[in-house]
Amino acid sequence: MTNYSQPAVKLNDGTSIPLLGFGTWQIKESEVGEAIKHALEVGYRHIDTATMYENEAGIGRALQESSISRNDLYITTKLPPQNAGKETETIDASLEALQVDHVDMWLLHWPVEDGNNVPTWEKMIEARDAGKATSIGVSNLSIDEIDELIQATGVVPAMNQVKWSTAKHDADFAAKLRERGIALEGYSPLRAANLEDPKLVEIAESRGVSAADIVLAWHAAHEYIVLPKSTTPERIKSNAEATRIELTADEVAMLDNLEQID
Ligand code: A2P
Repeated sequence: MTNYSQPAVKLNDGTSIPLLGFGTWQIKESEVGEAIKHALEVGYRHIDTATMYENEAGIGRALQESSISRNDLYITTKLPPQNAGKETETIDASLEALQVDHVDMWLLHWPVEDGNNVPTWEKMIEARDAGKATSIGVSNLSIDEIDELIQATGVVPAMNQVKWSTAKHDADFAAKLRERGIALEGYSPLRAANLEDPKLVEIAESRGVSAADIVLAWHAAHEYIVLPKSTTPERIKSNAEATRIELTADEVAMLDNLEQID
């Protein structure tokens, strides 16, 4: 079995995160256990969930049933913006549902409703300092919103998780995160792609793999942390294998310039 804890991406707090993660958005609690079991069997070691996904308890049970030790797993969960002001209760509930004493990454899922993310970020820093989350970061935040957090606290988010794919590629945004030492993690890599894009299909056909495989290989080529989601065992496996496909520089350049979709 391949172990997809590698390759890993270095984060600005000295830790690292497996480039491949298993996305669980929209996987129901009743189905997530089976999906996690397949993912772990295939070699995924990084699991991405969120309070809002309402599947943490199912993930917790699947992890308990697995023989893989906690130290070999990377677990991310996220704070819903509507829980601003209830940060401690929220992380405690996540830890209880996941049956772990800490998560590896805790993200602010979306900007908070009143637009002032700083008090929540301060609480997240406290949770990190209390050992409840090894790393903290954000999701769906703009560069300006991130800069506000940095200015107010001096703590740079380790990561920004955003919708990201070949058809949603903003090189300027990626560069701005890189300048700040913030890792870019992409969700919905397949839904946010146009799997019928002729240039993408041409590259896929020339290599005898699927267009989805090429999209995930593109994320890996850029060292974008990527979270393919599937409940289909064959796809869970092929999505992981795809991150090991090595694209040429020409192929990456071509994929960087595919038609964009909203
Ligand atoms: P399924 O769960 O039935 O496999 P994303 O990761 O971008 O959120 O995309 C998830 C969606 O893409 C799900 O509907 C999933 O369906 C589907 N999907 C997952 N892997 C593949 C693949 N390799 N090729 C095509 N569709 C896929």
